[in-house]
Amino acid sequence: MNEKKKYRTASKGNGQQGKGRTLTTRQGHPVTDNQNIRTVGSRGPATMENYHFIEKMSHFDRERVPERVVHARGAGAHGVFVSYGMVGNDPVEKFTRAKVFKKGAETPTFVRFSTVGHPSGSPETLRDPRGFAVKFYTEDGNWDLVGNNLKIFFIRDAMKFPDLIHSQKPDPVTNIQSAERIFDFFAGTPEATHMVTFLYSPWGIPANYRQMQGSGVNTYKWVNAEGEAVLVKYHWEPLQGIRNLTQKEAQEIQGKNFNHATQDLYEAIERGEFPEWELNVQIMSDDDHPELDFDPLDDTKLWPKEQFPWYPIGKMTLNRNPVDYFNEVELAAFGTGVLVDGLDFSDDKMLQGRTFSYSDTQRYRIGANYLQLPINAPKTHVATNQRGGQMAFDTDFAEGQNIHVNYEPSILGGLEESPMAGKEYTPRYEANLVRQPIERANPFKQAGETFRNFEAWEREELINNLGNDLAKCDPRIQEKMLNHFTQADESYGRLVRERIEQVTKEMKQKMSEGMDGPMGNVTGEQGVQE
Ligand code: HEM
Repeated sequence: MNEKKKYRTASKGNGQQGKGRTLTTRQGHPVTDNQNIRTVGSRGPATMENYHFIEKMSHFDRERVPERVVHARGAGAHGVFVSYGMVGNDPVEKFTRAKVFKKGAETPTFVRFSTVGHPSGSPETLRDPRGFAVKFYTEDGNWDLVGNNLKIFFIRDAMKFPDLIHSQKPDPVTNIQSAERIFDFFAGTPEATHMVTFLYSPWGIPANYRQMQGSGVNTYKWVNAEGEAVLVKYHWEPLQGIRNLTQKEAQEIQGKNFNHATQDLYEAIERGEFPEWELNVQIMSDDDHPELDFDPLDDTKLWPKEQFPWYPIGKMTLNRNPVDYFNEVELAAFGTGVLVDGLDFSDDKMLQGRTFSYSDTQRYRIGANYLQLPINAPKTHVATNQRGGQMAFDTDFAEGQNIHVNYEPSILGGLEESPMAGKEYTPRYEANLVRQPIERANPFKQAGETFRNFEAWEREELINNLGNDLAKCDPRIQEKMLNHFTQADESYGRLVRERIEQVTKEMKQKMSEGMDGPMGNVTGEQGVQE
């Protein structure tokens, strides 16, 4: 890359003319000396009235916000979504009145890709699901589709999420991630077997962000103008193709580059090779589908493609890199509660729990006014009666509003409610309030199908990767996991058992020779090197 290509220049300043590239303080004072603090004589003590120094240093001291509790490492880009307006042979309006899906509608988007369990400076080659979060700045306000690359999840009840994540994060005593803690949790969580099968296969290490799928994972609803709803799942298909890595390929990249996925995305967009994804939906009628052997609200299950086809409904192109990583990527805040008219929640228990968690963490991570930041603010009419809070800077008045009125109702010219865009969707509920798992748990059948559907090299990777990590675990954990794999598919359990036995033997031998054991997968712990 030549210098001209390597560095981008700002296309506009902050509105002040005639100052060229002069460095200033935040107060707009030109800085005449950015090298020396003010001291009594060249060797004497420093003075405290040195505004420029104190502003510079104290801002530096506050340059970080807490990293995301999950999905801390990420990369982002701006783009556009264009809707096809059709679901198969039907106009999209048959199912949803959301304007973002009207034929030909163009909606600006911002996407953040991420890894999940590892901290913000961690390598992008680690075995982990990948986040695929999309903010649509629609004419009806923002819609966030907060998805992952894999189409299912480990658990189906939000109650278990903190435990899942604690098991994946480093040991609270040693601060080292441990395969034994991870599999201890999975051994007691049979519904995770399907996701574990994907995660330990090459699908657990996408080659980069451009060549991976995305999925909303949880079940949502679409609502039409008549107030009728259907269940819907969203899937992004990369037009660049899909590519995943073997453990060995990932380790080779990691030895040279911690940032390969961020770099790949950034450089492709700078070259003008804009990555594209087609958005697909699967649709089911809005009921509990007793004919299926799984619950449509269970996010550990795939909706079989043969029964519920993927319909392409639009295309997203990422065509612009951020100009400031922190302001655009780090401060981006996505949430499952951020829906527009025509899109709705389902009763998926994960989705319900997630919807509390995102904005809750963002008020802590960024602050009460995180929605005023340019990356999070809608690009449409915003007029609330919310005032104050840390860092409030944008009073969102409506044109012609009486600015003394920050409450509702009022006859003095304050803000008013909007009419509904269509008939309200009013589902009816009648049941006891309970704490109960869903029926039709069926934890292993689809895991077995996924295992059998893999190509031979994917199955081989899966077995080796699982065996390498499980060999480091307590035998009681090994037995429980083997029981899960065997229930999914007899040969799955048998092959993992054989691999554990082989790795254990090799580890014993290497230890007797005083050498290191295997290189780990998720954890990067030492073990037998393949
Ligand atoms: C990020 C909670 C399940 C995808 C986060 C964050 C929290 C969270 C607290 C950090 C948000 C921030 O700091 O801005 C939860 C809870 C879950 C859950 C409580 C289950 C009950 C899932 C599932 C998916 C997912 C099933 C995939 C569909 C993401 C993504 C991000 C994220 C992509 C990163 C968003 C970004 O790039 O800023 N989640 N999550 N999460 N979660 Fe979840």
